[in-house]
Amino acid sequence: MLSETTTARAKVLADLPPVKSDSLLALIAMANADPRPDKIDVGVGVFRDGAGQTPILKVMKQAERKLLETQVSKSYLGSAGDKRFAELLRPILLGEHADDERIAGTQTPGGCGALRLGFELIRTMNPDARVFVGTPTWPNHAPIIRGVGLEMVEYPYYDRDSCAIRFGAMLEGLNGAHEGDVVLLHGVCHNPTGADLDEQQWAEVTRIVSQRGLLPFVDIAYQGFGRGLDEDAAGLRGLLSACDEVIVAQSCDKNFSVYRDRVGSLFLKTGSAEATAKAMAHVYQRAREMWSMPPDHGAAAVRIILDDAQLTADWKVELDAMRDRINAVRARIAAADPRLAYIGQQFGMFSMLPLSMEQVLALRERHAIYMADSGRFNVVGMADDSIDRFTAAVAEAFDG
Ligand code: LMR
Repeated sequence: MLSETTTARAKVLADLPPVKSDSLLALIAMANADPRPDKIDVGVGVFRDGAGQTPILKVMKQAERKLLETQVSKSYLGSAGDKRFAELLRPILLGEHADDERIAGTQTPGGCGALRLGFELIRTMNPDARVFVGTPTWPNHAPIIRGVGLEMVEYPYYDRDSCAIRFGAMLEGLNGAHEGDVVLLHGVCHNPTGADLDEQQWAEVTRIVSQRGLLPFVDIAYQGFGRGLDEDAAGLRGLLSACDEVIVAQSCDKNFSVYRDRVGSLFLKTGSAEATAKAMAHVYQRAREMWSMPPDHGAAAVRIILDDAQLTADWKVELDAMRDRINAVRARIAAADPRLAYIGQQFGMFSMLPLSMEQVLALRERHAIYMADSGRFNVVGMADDSIDRFTAAVAEAFDG
């Protein structure tokens, strides 16, 4: 029996039980190992262009050249990493809250590092806090929450068969939370379903969270991939308006296309600048214990872009182009079969197909199409010339 947790007890290393590898990482390895030249890898969440490549943004290449030419030292920066990077993110992420002194942020190793750090802080603050998580969710959320030692409470978020958010069930779930409990929310481009809360739903969730004294923790990894930078942060900004305390795990890995460079940030809001400064001291201490200091390169390159009006404008053009491709592929898939129409109404890189595990495996075996076991697929995982083959194979799977 493969263990799904990393809390096994063993006296010697050799006695450790076999561990079930992360499903998405296992899928990457499986797709890479398939020798069929026409394979379609819609498993992992990386943006690919019409030719099926994940290119480095032109503006990123420019920033990296500038970094290479101008960087004079690689000496330590400290646990906060590149402070200017976190400063420059504020208007993009926080919008009208950018100047709020009760909000502070710090660089982290990707969005995943920010999540871990945020949950470590919650555990320091209140080990009894329960974390309410809508299902399905990103497969790494539960291991992070449980790895930190917090209790996780699941509530239904999305119904795979009707391809719709289970909003009533979500509210019921949140109404079961007590003051001090944490609510993990996807900021935009829900992973794995692509089904985002609409404006009224965000308002309703925000009302419950603030009235019940819950702590919202927003995971926002795809800002700019949905409708636009400001539109995609609207839910988060509404929470910042309504709540005294908010935690945000942010990622630049996708919207700057720097996946392996691990560029992210953690932002906190409390009721006062002094309390925020005190909480941030805990954040830096926890970071010091885990990774000491975040990796510099990617964040430094993002900082160079955001510190330069022209490079920022160029980045936004490239970001818009990524979003346009996501939405164009969505429209094409949606038009291919009425059963896929819902995909045109969703946002970001992921949608979920109501396929059984057998059907997912059959797609892998017969058509070399690699999607997650849950039926999650990356709409821009495939090149333009693979889309028709993909939709035909999915329709065949639906027909049984
Ligand atoms: C994904 O969901 O595919 C990405 O966020 C990659 C990852 O780290 O799981």
